[in-house]
Amino acid sequence: MIFFVLYVLMPLIMLFPTVTYGQTRTLNIVYTGGVNGELEPCGCSPKTDFGGVARRAGYLAEHRKMLSPYILIDSGNFIDKDTPQGRLKAEAMLKAFSIMKYDAVAFLKMEKEFPYSFFSGLLKKNKIPVISDMPQYKQSISIKREAFAVNVSVNPMNYQKGKLNILLTDKPVSEIKDLKGWDVIILSSGEILEEPLKVNGTIIVSGYPKGERLGILTLQFDSGGEVLESKHKWQALGKDIKEDINVRKALKEYDAGVAGLLKDDSKPLAKMSYLGSSKCGECHQPFVESWKKTRHAGAFSSLERVGKSGDPECIKCHTAGFGEKGGFYNAKKTPMLTNVQCEACHGPGGEHLLDFSKPMQPMAESVCLKCHTKSTSPDFNYPIYLEKVKHK
Ligand code: HEC
Ligand code: HEC
Ligand code: HEC
Ligand code: HEC
Repeated sequence: MIFFVLYVLMPLIMLFPTVTYGQTRTLNIVYTGGVNGELEPCGCSPKTDFGGVARRAGYLAEHRKMLSPYILIDSGNFIDKDTPQGRLKAEAMLKAFSIMKYDAVAFLKMEKEFPYSFFSGLLKKNKIPVISDMPQYKQSISIKREAFAVNVSVNPMNYQKGKLNILLTDKPVSEIKDLKGWDVIILSSGEILEEPLKVNGTIIVSGYPKGERLGILTLQFDSGGEVLESKHKWQALGKDIKEDINVRKALKEYDAGVAGLLKDDSKPLAKMSYLGSSKCGECHQPFVESWKKTRHAGAFSSLERVGKSGDPECIKCHTAGFGEKGGFYNAKKTPMLTNVQCEACHGPGGEHLLDFSKPMQPMAESVCLKCHTKSTSPDFNYPIYLEKVKHK
């Protein structure tokens, strides 16, 4: 009997605290906002390896029962700039939203930078309840979830009596904290509210930047439908979370699309100002040997391992001179410039060959920091890291 209480009953009670309240009901608001085109983390460091739509979808699929009843919301600014790669991201993001069955998605500042025609086709393919203050969309939608009636809007004036009112906005806290009539406001301004703010009966939460964590706001209602209590939690989306295979499929399509951006083989190469390490080796062979022992020499195969060797956003730090005149273009056209080569640190060698007395790019910590950023290399420490790559 004691065994039964300890190991069976107690965990059950802890899992379902609402059972003991009788009349009260709970609703989970599961939300993202301000994801800014981050489809998935780069995986450069385990310390920053959080988030991504495949894990988000995997988490939801696995915890659907535990979360129900819940509504799933994105409060806007989920995409990046309107560039060819930005468009591919937007497409993949919408597909992921549709697989996860978002109940409401706000199109705000970043989304408004794309032409309407770009979205209209995509929204036919992916069923997504969009709200926006752009004239082509509705500003509010009503969601019914079990006994709950929810009004989700982007218009601060559109709250509705008798419903749970949720406002989605990209305005900062300072501009919205005095609004009346809203039970919950979800921000996508980029501000991080580690804990919800409670102002005059309104609960204000923010999306976690880059979607590294999923917000879960649990509202508990009394029998009259008033919010009694709220709890908030950030669900971390780490490597331990099983990915959703359909979202992963969408991401693979995205990777293929992105790799296509650099496949323009007819594009003439700029005059080679970058030479590649085998050229340097003709005169500095011992330096090539020591470099080969560093992880820089395997930086491109790290991208190949994760299927990202065609992604300009990754290539720029895992090759030499990408985006610069005469630097890396793609693995086919410029195979000699894959990896973090000599010239990624010393600068292009073209002029060096014409005049050895001309100094190359001076070596300093700032050279490393172009690639070793807070998010890609949180453990970066110049003396310690330098020691590991010094020519010996
Ligand atoms: C062009 C971008 C770039 C530059 C410039 C750069 N690195 Fe790196 N570095 C990388 C990449 C990418 C990796 C990871 C390679 C891999 O394993 O795929 C890395 C890995 C390393 C590692 C291995 C980390 C470990 O935990 O073992 C060290 C050490 C390092 N870099 C030091 C430096 C130092 C010091 C500088 C400046 C003098 C520098 N790097 C400049 C991109 C760069
Ligand atoms: C701003 C520069 C930068 C960008 C952009 C970048 N990386 Fe990295 N990456 C690094 C650095 C620096 C390291 C080494 C970090 C360390 O060990 O301190 C690294 C390491 C890695 C590793 C090796 C991790 C390991 O421990 O084996 C992988 C894989 C990787 N990056 C993949 C990617 C992918 C995929 C992208 C694009 C989505 C990307 N990187 C974009 C700088 C960058
Ligand atoms: C991660 C950055 C980095 C990369 C990549 C790198 N080096 Fe260096 N290199 C340095 C640093 C830092 C120094 C100065 C400290 C030292 O001697 O190790 C240096 C010094 C040198 C020097 C000596 C300069 C002098 O004052 O005598 C030569 C030559 C050289 N590197 C050639 C190369 C060649 C060739 C490669 C490619 C095979 C290469 N380096 C790759 C960072 C780098
Ligand atoms: C044809 C021979 C030759 C080739 C090829 C060559 N170098 Fe040099 N390099 C020299 C000579 C000669 C010097 C100057 C004498 C010295 O200090 O060793 C020098 C000096 C250097 C220095 C130290 C001086 C400074 O300004 O920092 C670096 C670093 C360096 N080379 C890097 C490279 C890199 C990187 C490449 C490939 C892109 C390269 N070199 C290709 C011959 C060459």
